[in-house]
Amino acid sequence: MIDLLIELGDNGPMQQRVYEGIYAALRDGRLKPGQRLPASRVWALELGVARNTIREATTALIAEGWLEARAGSGLFVRPQPALHSKVEAALTSARAASGQLSLSAWAGQLPQALPELPSSSLVVDFRPGVVSSDAERLFRYRRPAQSRDAVTAALCQYGDPAGELPLRQRIAAYLRQSRSVRCGPDDIVVTSGMHQSMDLLCRLLLEPGRSLAVEDPGYPVIGHAAKLAGAALCHIGVDDNGLKVDEVPSRIAGVYCTPNHQFPLGVALSGSRRRELLDRAAREDFFVIEDDYDCEFYHGAAPSRCLQAEDAAQRVIYVGSVSKILAPALRIGYIVAPPWLRDSLHRAKWVVDRQTSSYAQNALLAIMSSGDFATHLHRMRFEYGKRRTALLDGIGTRLRQYVVALASTCGMHVAARITNGCDARTLCRLAEAEGVGIYEGNQFSSTGSASDILVFAFGRTGAAEIERGLELIEKAWASRRTADALRGP
Ligand SMILES: Cc1ncc(COP(=O)(O)O)c(C=O)c1O
Repeated sequence: MIDLLIELGDNGPMQQRVYEGIYAALRDGRLKPGQRLPASRVWALELGVARNTIREATTALIAEGWLEARAGSGLFVRPQPALHSKVEAALTSARAASGQLSLSAWAGQLPQALPELPSSSLVVDFRPGVVSSDAERLFRYRRPAQSRDAVTAALCQYGDPAGELPLRQRIAAYLRQSRSVRCGPDDIVVTSGMHQSMDLLCRLLLEPGRSLAVEDPGYPVIGHAAKLAGAALCHIGVDDNGLKVDEVPSRIAGVYCTPNHQFPLGVALSGSRRRELLDRAAREDFFVIEDDYDCEFYHGAAPSRCLQAEDAAQRVIYVGSVSKILAPALRIGYIVAPPWLRDSLHRAKWVVDRQTSSYAQNALLAIMSSGDFATHLHRMRFEYGKRRTALLDGIGTRLRQYVVALASTCGMHVAARITNGCDARTLCRLAEAEGVGIYEGNQFSSTGSASDILVFAFGRTGAAEIERGLELIEKAWASRRTADALRGP
């Protein structure tokens, strides 16, 4: 059954006005073929008319062939193919013809395009940003109401803008144990993912005249958020020891980095650079956003303590998210805010979106408090480890003439450097022609610093698929077309 607004005109008998209201909805396409109309009793109550009035109006429409009564199921709209295609065409051309109003300067700073959605035509997709579907099982079996922290958030009233206390307690305990973050529940602000965390932080900390140093190559969202806040960006290179801290200029407002697993190159910031960054932040009074997005999945040696744990001067703002460790579409992230930022952050979160969905918070709380979260992390650490081995082995055997994998110890992707002078775009296109998605490093760079980098992520590709994908790439790259493409026009 649908909910439909029937506009009753001002003149004429009520039965005629109801008839015309329904007829108008049929003519302008608001009522579609196959839809069931509300029961006459419900409609009569809502419109404040007698039930008979509704019946008489709909009987006339049945007689004219617009509606049909199905025994025991009510009244339905009959298909009128010619009319409905005319209605659709009229709506489309009205939309196309409508004039464009001018947008704000803020809109002018938005990126030119939205990211592409995964393509179903690929046989194997090494796309970053997607994760194993194993977590979906947890959401099916662990309903929010099953949470052992009986105090799940009520859905029919607003909650704390900083996030529900039981969830903040769980997140704080997890971050302390798993990532050595120094925090308690009051330091945590639950956000709708890292994207929102970046947006809030950039609005609070940046403005025209201030600049932010970002890794290049790096995760592009922080750059977009900083530009929207009016700040200038300073692109800092990355080498085998991570961000080149000595290239961070003085008089900077802040630095954004992925010190534990650089995105996308995969290296970790060395101990001496960590100390240098923290010393400079304390001395020169700038903030450091530490994006710790996927270090839970370490392979071999455990990752180093996070930067925030070593920061005595409270300059580091730690941001994390469950997008990699659990499910990106859940849209939950968190900021561990130093005391000087906390109050403003709460107020900003409140103004911008009131709070993160209590439904999503309850779902995460149920999974964390049941113990499923920790079990999932252990299982996926093992599973991603297997995939990573398959990928590294395959790159080392099948693709060794073209690329070499860069060293990394955690996460769900591997970056590889092109060693034989091939062009990254050509290699991606050739792989795609064989049905395999691999990704150019330069899509994460504003300076072209990753032109010889390819990214292979394995969030959604099992070990067998990885082997198949690499076999197809080997075939694609070894083909005649590769030789032709490399020879150039
Ligand atoms: C470097 C980095 N930071 C953060 C995120 C997660 O962002 P969000 O929490 O908005 O999904 C990702 C996800 O791909 C990432 O690669």
